[in-house]
Parts: sequence; structure tokens; C-alpha cells
Amino acid sequence: MARRRRRQRRQDSFGKRARREGFPARSVYKLEEIDRRMRLIRRGMRVLDLGGAPGSWTLYAAEKVNREGKVVSIDLNPHEGTMPANVDFRVADIRDVDVDSLGGEFDLVLSDMAPKTSGMRDADQYRSYELFCTAVDVAERVLVPGGNFVGKIFQGAEFEDARARLREVFTKEKIVRPKATRDESYELFLCGVDRRPPED
Ligand SMILES: C[S@@+](CC[C@H](N)C(=O)[O-])C[C@H]1O[C@@H](n2cnc3c(N)ncnc32)[C@H](O)[C@@H]1O
Repeated sequence: MARRRRRQRRQDSFGKRARREGFPARSVYKLEEIDRRMRLIRRGMRVLDLGGAPGSWTLYAAEKVNREGKVVSIDLNPHEGTMPANVDFRVADIRDVDVDSLGGEFDLVLSDMAPKTSGMRDADQYRSYELFCTAVDVAERVLVPGGNFVGKIFQGAEFEDARARLREVFTKEKIVRPKATRDESYELFLCGVDRRPPED
């Protein structure tokens, strides 16, 4: 009981800290940890952020790539607050987006996309797997050789298929479950490192 309360306090504190630091969602600390561990985001990079609303990951990436870099962010919903000048935020379903309209190649693709959960665990996991595969397909199209990828997935029956798909595109993979993830959540981040050169 005491342990559960301690955990709850830790989760709540991520939310408060996010608001204090000007981010609309606590999820920013997941990306911060992944970035700290994998050294993904650098000044001048072009980043594509899928599932970018309400905007925490987009803001974090925009700050790190600085004015020399750019973040293109896509979500079904609009972002909260104001975005800096180096962000191009588009309201769209990624499945309907023509990737050629995104303005060229990217160094990093992020996907924090998640389906609206129905409470039916198997169905939610499958929809999360589908969104993850969509994100990998987009990354395959837009990443420069050597580029990197971070994608959220709800762990389930298709998890090994998701890993296999990732390995088709990237030379290395890493699985990360950041500390800011809620204890009851079964989400993980599958990261693809070093996009293989496209086949002729
Ligand atoms: C957990 S939220 C992302 C939070 C965001 N990374 C942040 O830090 O503010 C997941 C998002 O995925 C988006 N999403 C789900 N399916 C999508 C799709 N097919 N195309 C674009 N966005 C999608 C949802 O609208 C939702 O805003």
C-alpha cells in the first residue's frame, strides 16, 4: 500500500514538473530519458514527430535541434499553446499523409502515437502494433541512411513481429521503458538505430 502511494506520488510529480517547465504533458520526461540514454537529438537535425499533440515531444525536440534544425509534427488533434518558429505542426491522420509532402529527408523519426484505448487489451495492443508499423513504414521512406527511430508500442502478442519489422530497417534495436511511464502501463519504446541504406 505504502509502495503504491509512493509510486503514485512519483507519477503525479512528473505531471506537476511538466506544467512548471512549460510542457503540456508529462510524456516529455519519457523522451528526455530516451534521448539522454541514446543521445538522439542534436542541434541542426530534422525531426519528424508522429502523434505530436498536445506538443511536449515536439517542444522538447524543437528546443534541442535549435533554430538551425526543424521539427515536423503530425497529429489527429491540434497542439496546445504556441509552437516555436522551427516547428511545422500539421493536423492529419498519418495514414493519409503523402510522405513526399513532408519537405525532404529526416535524421530522426519519433512516434508516441497511441490508439484511443477501448479497455479490450488485445484489441488495443493490436491497434498500437498497427500504428507502430505505420511509423516504421514512414521512417523507412523519409530517414537518411544512418538515421534513427523511436516508436511507442503496447506490449502484446505482436511484439516480436514489431521487433522483426524494425530490424529490417535498422542495424540495431533498443527497448526502453522510461521511468516516467505509469506503472500500470504496458507501453514500451522500440528504438531503431542506424537506418540501413535503402536497397536499389
Ligand atoms: C500519447 S499522445 C502523444 C503525446 C505527445 N508525444 C506529447 O508529448 O505531447 C498520442 C497521440 O497519438 C495521436 N494519434 C493516434 N493515431 C494517430 C494517427 N493515425 N495519426 C496521427 N496521430 C495519431 C493521438 O491523437 C494522440 O495525440
